Amino acid sequence: MTTRKILVTSALPYANGSIHLGHLVEYIQTDIWVRFQKMQGHEVHYVCADDTHGTPIMLRAETEGITPEQLIARVWQEHYDDFAAFHVQFDHYGSTNSNETKEFAQGIYRELKAANLIEVRSIEQFYDPVKNMFLPDRFIKGECPKCHAKDQYGDNCEVCGAAYAPIELIAPYSAVSGAKPEMRNSDHYFFKLSAEPCQQFLREWTKSGSLQPEAANKMQEWLGAEGESKLSDWDISRDAPYFGFEIPDAPGKYFYVWLDAPVGYMGSFKKLCEIKGLDFNEYWKPDSTAEMYHFIGKDILYFHALFWPAMLKNAGYRTPNKLFAHGFLTVNGEKMSKSRGTFITAKSYVDNIKNTEYLRYYYAAKINGTMEDLDLNLDDFVAKVNSDLIGKYINIASRCAGFIAKRFDGKLGETDLTAVSEFKAAFDGGEIARCFEEREFSRALREIMRLADVANQYIAEQKPWALAKEEGRDAELHIACSTAMTLFRDLTLYLKPVLPVLAEQVEAFLNIPPLAWNASWQPLAAGHPINSYQHLATRLDPKLIAALTAANQASLSPTPAVVPHSEQRHAEAQQHATEVTEEKNFEPFISIEDFAKIDLRVARIVNAEHVEGAAKLLKLTLDIGEANPRTVFAGIKSAYDPETLKGRMTVMVANLAPRKMKFGMSEGMVLAASGDTPGLFILSPDDGAQPGMRIK
Ligand code: 2FM
Ligand code: ZN
Repeated sequence: MTTRKILVTSALPYANGSIHLGHLVEYIQTDIWVRFQKMQGHEVHYVCADDTHGTPIMLRAETEGITPEQLIARVWQEHYDDFAAFHVQFDHYGSTNSNETKEFAQGIYRELKAANLIEVRSIEQFYDPVKNMFLPDRFIKGECPKCHAKDQYGDNCEVCGAAYAPIELIAPYSAVSGAKPEMRNSDHYFFKLSAEPCQQFLREWTKSGSLQPEAANKMQEWLGAEGESKLSDWDISRDAPYFGFEIPDAPGKYFYVWLDAPVGYMGSFKKLCEIKGLDFNEYWKPDSTAEMYHFIGKDILYFHALFWPAMLKNAGYRTPNKLFAHGFLTVNGEKMSKSRGTFITAKSYVDNIKNTEYLRYYYAAKINGTMEDLDLNLDDFVAKVNSDLIGKYINIASRCAGFIAKRFDGKLGETDLTAVSEFKAAFDGGEIARCFEEREFSRALREIMRLADVANQYIAEQKPWALAKEEGRDAELHIACSTAMTLFRDLTLYLKPVLPVLAEQVEAFLNIPPLAWNASWQPLAAGHPINSYQHLATRLDPKLIAALTAANQASLSPTPAVVPHSEQRHAEAQQHATEVTEEKNFEPFISIEDFAKIDLRVARIVNAEHVEGAAKLLKLTLDIGEANPRTVFAGIKSAYDPETLKGRMTVMVANLAPRKMKFGMSEGMVLAASGDTPGLFILSPDDGAQPGMRIK
């Protein structure tokens, strides 16, 4: 067998949120495939990184009062720990905010420019005059021009589904500050994807077999018929302020996060090359004979099937052999939902269920290499783990191993060769390998479980528990249990890509070297000592699932003003099943007497100023008709310029106990609205209301 050199990537998670079970469909899938290839003896390098740039990260850091670098360092560690807990074993996990990625991004840009594929054009765009920044579509909200639903995003309406340009919104406002945006011009840098050679290349690439059939069809749609020119040029620049890499020789202009995101694959691999002494060019130059595969979600196909190959080709690099796109995760047949507790973070899974191989097993049992969505049905999850993994597989060892220890001094006896050859005849190891290779893990597991049935059938016929009670049947008992250990070992081999930690425990228990795929298997020899059997895995208690969903419901808290990472995606692919369905969660009813305890007053903002050293606070001086105005520190700095607040009327809680803060005494609270989407909005009474008026 020839040793293949393979470079594998998973999509880079955005450094703006936690890893959840939706993400893990991809990472677990890739990891299983990589482990399978490594077990085949191939040279495989699996790299990934955090995707760290862009407006949402910049704004989140600001809201938290830290630098973007501090934010991405913290999130990197969280992501790294989550992946480790699910045994996703990268050869290198980097960050796009690295020198390597920066150099490749700038180098690619220079090549594209030299090839005459970069064009500068002035475009008109909404600008937030309070925040002094241009607003990405997702940061502009307003009334839908079609159905008139309020508070819709600048690119599409979530109520009627209409797609439009932000300029079409009625009464647009900045989702960052609430200010009315202005139209301003600015120079943007475009990658000329519509250039004939680019289109021609992409047409050919689509036909080269690098895409699954469904993905190739999508590409045909995007490209249009031969001769048709449907592709638009791609806007790859963003104006300062922006967290990202500066465009060479273009002061104040930054690469759009999606330009450097896939370049992160190169950056992370380059780092691995330095650590391991590999030759980068052997994998990335056009004459490379190494294989390269990107595992991605179907929503980011547009970036990986159009922009990315076109960038690589025109900058003098090779293109990937294949894109492996997968569908979205649903839980109990629906989109993940915070209110139902099915928006489950990796961390909460670990805290509540602990055994992460259960999820690896379940996902593998459902992954079929297509772009179809994958459903995690929580009842089915419990049933499958308990009936297949524990009931069929683990039980082989737990029913037989004890006798070897107790009755035979921990040493195996002869093997029933007829049983072993029946077992071997029952399946085709090559077929299981083919299923893993083709990412048809569900089929591989069905085959393996069929084998487990054969092994269980043998044990059921031999009845070691009955033999153990009968005089003079020790030899038969010894053979039956020893044979079962050999069958258990063989099943473990095939399950190892899916259950790597369990497989290691089995290797330790059976006292054997690491299982390798292509070894010619002999039954475990008579006299071979095995270790005493410790519980390898226990049944999954449905109560843990209830606790898991409850924990994810309980952790519902007002989210900071940050746009979901789908902002990063092409409008074509907005619909993402791992997006959260938010339902309103109201507080329990209170009596009118309870409400009357809150003294709400109309207040005039006499003065508003920044507070030195406070990232989020403004100091407000409020007149509520008293002799002395009150001082209130309000966490609204991210949304308001103090100058615009002076003289405004608002609403305050006048009987909130004064609170000593780092910057002074706060004598009340102003009310502001916020939701799951960005923006913070203080209240205003109608014209005519006077300072001090009671609100009831
Ligand atoms: O969709 C996302 O979450 C992106 N951060 C994926 C980037 S993949 C690659 F291009 F970096
Ligand atoms: Zn609408």
